[in-house]
Amino acid sequence: MFGKRKSLDNQEAAEKIIVALDVEKEEEAYALVRHLSPLVKFYKVGMRLYVACGPGIITGLKNLGAKIFLDLKFHDIPHTVASTAEVVTRYGVDMFNIHLSGGSDMIRAAVEAAAEAAAKQGIPKPLVVGVTVLTSFNEKVLREETGVEKSLEQHVLNLSLLGMENGLNGVVASPREAEMIRKKCGEEFLIVTPGVRPLWSSLDDQLRVLTPRQALEAGASFLVIGRPIIEHASPQEAVEKILAEMTN
Ligand code: C5P
Repeated sequence: MFGKRKSLDNQEAAEKIIVALDVEKEEEAYALVRHLSPLVKFYKVGMRLYVACGPGIITGLKNLGAKIFLDLKFHDIPHTVASTAEVVTRYGVDMFNIHLSGGSDMIRAAVEAAAEAAAKQGIPKPLVVGVTVLTSFNEKVLREETGVEKSLEQHVLNLSLLGMENGLNGVVASPREAEMIRKKCGEEFLIVTPGVRPLWSSLDDQLRVLTPRQALEAGASFLVIGRPIIEHASPQEAVEKILAEMTN
């Protein structure tokens, strides 16, 4: 289905995994990072963990050496998003995201605020990525509930191009849309894909999934994986099995 990509060694594959810390207690999050950090460096902090623990969770995880993708999907007027982008940049996150449907002014405001705040702190600018269309949407819902008449794929592509034109580093999208985005947005544009399921794991509530290997071949830059790792009896063994699938 997809073109062949350069094969990866274990370390290159591990650098493409972002483990979703979808837990509520900070001790659970820290335990996962302590357990997995010899293998994986990048972790996603979503709404639940952030709201339960507050911003201290970011410092706590960074103190364990974790890189942080803060997945709070900002979507508001440009001024509000810009000032929030400034705050999360000061926290030292490595990546955060916004909703592309916030429009070009909002996207540019977020990117510029992150760049300015990082320069002021003398730290690298976090990667800013945009959410295209949530994978819980299908074309019928998109049309009937949000009034978007285009096909879902065309809408995802238009939003990805909007993000690219306004300075985003990449997008969050279903792995099934990665190949199309990669073709139109070029090799440098990041594609972060949730909805990845190893061959041996259950689908949970994810419907439109690809395996880690297929997601990479479709052009994904990072694979966000939660339950197959964090709910496994041995999260470390789960990561090792995923790495084997990615490198073979
Ligand atoms: O457990 P699982 O591997 O399905 O976790 C995927 C993570 O990616 C979850 O934190 C989920 O909220 C997030 N996500 C997603 N689909 C999107 C956007 C984010 O599954 N479209």
